[in-house]
Amino acid sequence: MFQKLVIASDHGGFSYKEEIKVFLAREYPNVSVDDLGTDSTVSVDYPAFGMAAGNAVHSGRADAGIIICGSGVGISIAANRFSKVRAALCTHVTMARLSREHNDANIFALGERIIGIEVALECVRVFMDTEFEGGRHERRVSQLAVVGDQ
Ligand code: RB5
Repeated sequence: MFQKLVIASDHGGFSYKEEIKVFLAREYPNVSVDDLGTDSTVSVDYPAFGMAAGNAVHSGRADAGIIICGSGVGISIAANRFSKVRAALCTHVTMARLSREHNDANIFALGERIIGIEVALECVRVFMDTEFEGGRHERRVSQLAVVGDQ
């Protein structure tokens, strides 16, 4: 179970970020959540926020992250610039579950303009509650790390 989370969004994901923080505080009161911004719906550039979350996970300052932009695409690309980050953009709870079981995803990315808030919150729950299966997936995930570090 993750204990130290970061959460970040651009303006396109701001409102879901706020809702997800409330959900996490209620459902996971022992998990710390560090909000890396943005602070409003004023237009900002998603790379800074994706990279801030990516850097926190890459450096070990956080166990995991949740990142949101309009589509989820830009901010997940930004976070995945870091070799130790496995940011999974999910639109369905099964994707969220498999991203943990098979890919050991350490950042969950979503698009506020793509999925409804109920699906988003269920994906967050599944991301938080699902453990990596290891086994054959360990080998595959370790191959990803080597590619990223070259
Ligand atoms: C902002 O308009 C939008 O481009 C951004 O939130 C995201 O969808 C980018 O991938």
